[in-house]
Amino acid sequence: MYKYKCLNPIAKIGLNNFSDKYQAVDNVDEAEGILVRSANMLEMEFSDNLLAIARAGAGVNNIPLDKCAKEGIVVFNTPGANANGVKEMVLAAMLIASRDIIGGTEWVKANAGDPDIAKLTEKSKKKFAGTEIFGKKLGIIGLGAIGVRVANAARQLGMEVYGYDPYLSIDAAWRLSSDVKHVTNVDEIYSKCDIITVHVPALDSTKGMIGQEAIAKMKKGVIILNLARDILCDEVAILAGINSGKIRKYVTDFPNPTTAGHDGCIVIPHLGASTEESEDNCAVKAVLEMKDFLENGNINNS
Ligand code: MLT
Repeated sequence: MYKYKCLNPIAKIGLNNFSDKYQAVDNVDEAEGILVRSANMLEMEFSDNLLAIARAGAGVNNIPLDKCAKEGIVVFNTPGANANGVKEMVLAAMLIASRDIIGGTEWVKANAGDPDIAKLTEKSKKKFAGTEIFGKKLGIIGLGAIGVRVANAARQLGMEVYGYDPYLSIDAAWRLSSDVKHVTNVDEIYSKCDIITVHVPALDSTKGMIGQEAIAKMKKGVIILNLARDILCDEVAILAGINSGKIRKYVTDFPNPTTAGHDGCIVIPHLGASTEESEDNCAVKAVLEMKDFLENGNINNS
């Protein structure tokens, strides 16, 4: 019998993939496998029983990877399983940053009771005019499961797409539309692109990468999107960029007190992968990866 502990609920459909050879336990110390999403930081001591941790989702910043490596605990994640959900949120982010859908609909709500709202609309709509994404240059930093999907979708929407990834995998390269320009210097993204989106993991080397220095190299009126991880953007530098007019809009999936209330920011409460489909896919994948490891000793992340 394999014992597992689910630290915060992953979709039931995932757990249904465990067979009667598996038993959920209350006490984490009894478990051979731990299943987790993003909310729990795994800060506890691990028992000798623990063999593997499966993260239903992409980011593994809530798991102490160094400690796991030292103690021989295998860590899985499911980077491709919610990539479609995040890709769609990135497309939405580009569109809501380019067209003032939020400002416009808020205005309608505020004036909803006015019997002359139709007339008022025609007089007022000018201030909500936007720009199109068709023909604009999109820069994607990080061409993993999400970055590649965003690149291909943006090409289909008529954007000129630039991608940067110093660790581009062969698999990702194959899946990348041939008309995406793969640049080898990130500065080319900064200096050329109208919209820049980051899709890299949270590491010491990526912390604050969108900061003062990077922003200084960008075009005036740039739109910046961060639906990857909070630490990638230096919020103070972003705020300064918005206030100086350098950044037209900043869309982030990570509320931060520095930028959250500012009109130049569209702040989403970490909903990038919060779709029924993505949550189910991640939960199923995490369980299947855990099973394949416990039963067959196979290690694969997908
Ligand atoms: C991820 O890391 O997969 C996403 O941030 C979504 C999440 O797990 O909450």
